[in-house]
Amino acid sequence: MILTHVRPAGRGSEVVLRTGRSQDVLGPLGGPAARTKALLSAAERRRYSRMRTAEGRQDFLAVRVLARGLIEDVTGVPADAVALAQSCPGCGSEGHGPPRALNCDVQLSWAHSGGEVVVALSERQRVGVDIESLEHFSVTPALLAAALPVAEAEQVLAAGDTRRAFLRMWTVKEALAKLGSDVMTMTRRDRRQLADSVGAVAHWTEDHGSSVVGVAVAARADL
Ligand SMILES: CC(C)(COP(=O)(O)OP(=O)(O)OC[C@H]1O[C@@H](n2cnc3c(N)ncnc32)[C@H](O)[C@@H]1OP(=O)(O)O)[C@@H](O)C(=O)NCCC(=O)NCCS
Ligand SMILES: [Zn+2]
Repeated sequence: MILTHVRPAGRGSEVVLRTGRSQDVLGPLGGPAARTKALLSAAERRRYSRMRTAEGRQDFLAVRVLARGLIEDVTGVPADAVALAQSCPGCGSEGHGPPRALNCDVQLSWAHSGGEVVVALSERQRVGVDIESLEHFSVTPALLAAALPVAEAEQVLAAGDTRRAFLRMWTVKEALAKLGSDVMTMTRRDRRQLADSVGAVAHWTEDHGSSVVGVAVAARADL
């Protein structure tokens, strides 16, 4: 199933979110072979060919198909005419990093995890999104110590459902981090500090079946 919904994101604007299982996204296209690969740029095809797992390749394709379809629905630009690009703020490579649409006036972010994909789109504000699957996931003391400041780890441990509490904390932080230029500082900052440092005007989490989604929104497209 593929679900689309619109969420208010502060200052009178909205974020459109589309989630789905990769196999459902790719299924109508006849599988993750030639037709979907044809949608990839040269840089994307190089990354795709280096990916080691079938699931990783499927998610990589599915999130790009989902993004193009959502852009078509919002802007009217046909999905196969949407030009997507990525560039890395860390190393300058054109092969990875935050995605952007070259020929449509939208801001977008996407994420994939264990066969589930999500795309967030805004016409006015920069967005960040993350998805993490609860399946095969467990919270260990080592993970808590490595991933979160002490106060946040304590909040997670105090929750009834520790796995979901951790992923709600984690996905929203990763979504916030995707608004900033240095994703790696994420775990050293608590959620409020992170939100302030990237200028977020809204951030939240959503449960989608066995996945948790985090969303973050900046004040404007250029912030
Ligand atoms: C951003 C990051 C935290 C996401 O990792 P993840 O949890 O494995 O993957 P997710 O599914 O949540 O998100 C991946 C998507 O985030 C986006 N993304 C990647 N880097 C990003 C950044 N710096 N800012 C915003 N979005 C970014 C891309 O759309 C990417 O999709 P793709 O892999 O299909 O190209 C991770 O890529 C990271 O730590 N990046 C910083 C370091 C880095 O990029 N090193 C690469 C070599 S310089
Ligand atoms: Zn890089």
